[in-house]
Order: sequence, then structure tokens, then C-alpha cells
Amino acid sequence: MEIRSPETDTEFEAYYDLRWRVLRQPWGQSPGSERDELDDDATHVAGYDEVKGLVCVGRLHAVETGVGQVRYMAVEEPLRGRGLGQAVLNELERLAKRQGMSVIVLDAREAAVGFYRRNGYEAVDEGHVLFGEVRHSKMRKRLDGSA
Ligand SMILES: CC(C)(COP(=O)(O)OP(=O)(O)OC[C@H]1O[C@@H](n2cnc3c(N)ncnc32)[C@H](O)[C@@H]1OP(=O)(O)O)[C@@H](O)C(=O)NCCC(=O)NCCS
Repeated sequence: MEIRSPETDTEFEAYYDLRWRVLRQPWGQSPGSERDELDDDATHVAGYDEVKGLVCVGRLHAVETGVGQVRYMAVEEPLRGRGLGQAVLNELERLAKRQGMSVIVLDAREAAVGFYRRNGYEAVDEGHVLFGEVRHSKMRKRLDGSA
């Protein structure tokens, strides 16, 4: 699998479509609801399978000096549990370090908390409830390994 940023308009359309199908469509949200005003300046990572094409996505944006936020992590449903989310997160963390970030924060959906814990993220607070039912935990990780 190739992990890189989408490049063409067509690749970006597919990137946002996967984000929408996994993170918005199941809650009846219309196409477009998956994007926000930070997308233009954010770092986008996608995984391309030789046969299946785009299979996983994730985004990093700067919150403040030295701090980045990971959002919109999504893997095609039948392909979960095979290391694809891991590959996207690893690449986002690598790029965060390259951008001088030392801390990553994120709001993890309840179902994904275990995935982030396994990757060294600590739950630091309760987060928001999306669409009236999707609970989140605020999580944090220092990229240099210190507490
Ligand atoms: C969360 C998500 C991105 C993880 O991606 P994935 O490809 O399924 O996960 P991976 O296969 O890369 O898992 C990496 C490791 O984390 C573990 N893991 C994955 N999901 C987990 C979970 N929900 N709870 C506990 N551990 C989990 C895996 O077992 C694996 O550990 P191992 O290497 O010891 O076997 C993916 O399941 C997904 O798209 N979920 C739906 C959308 C979502 O909730 N996005 C996050 C929004 S905050």
C-alpha cells in the first residue's frame, strides 16, 4: 500500500467521499458535512491499495505552536483490523514531528478509544457528543515519548 497525500482533484473527491461515507453518512449527514474550514491548510494522508485504490484516510492540522490535532480517521469498513488505520496514524505522526509538533490531541469516538490507547494516547477528558449519540474522549500524546 502507498501512503501519501491525495494529489489530484479526483483523488481529493475520493478522499472526502470516504471520510463522508464512514464518519457522516451513517448519521444521515449530507455530502459536504465531512469538510471544514481547516481542510485547505491541513495535512491530508491517504492509503492506496494497488487493487482496491483508496482504502483509508486521516488528517492533521495545527492547533497552536507545537500542537497538532488528528481528525477524520477512516478506514473502509471491510478492511478494518488489518493495520490500515495504524499506517495512516503513523504517517500523520511522522509528518507532525517534521512540522515541529511535539504533542498530538484528538477527540476519539468511543469505539476508537482502544485504537488510540494502543498507540500511546491517553484519555484526558470527556469530549463532545456528536449527532446526539456519538460520545468522544479527549486524548493526547507526546510525540517525544515523555509524559
Ligand atoms: C478506528 C480506525 C481508524 C482504526 O483503523 P483499523 O485499520 O481498523 O485499525 P488497525 O488494524 O490499524 O489497528 C491497529 C491496532 O489497533 C488495534 N485496534 C484497532 N481498533 C481498535 C479498537 N477499536 N479498540 C482496541 N484496539 C483496536 C488493533 O487490534 C491493532 O492492534 P495490533 O497491532 O496489536 O493487532 C477504523 O476502525 C475506523 O475507520 N473506524 C470507524 C471510524 C472511526 O471511528 N474513526 C475514528 C474517529 S475518532
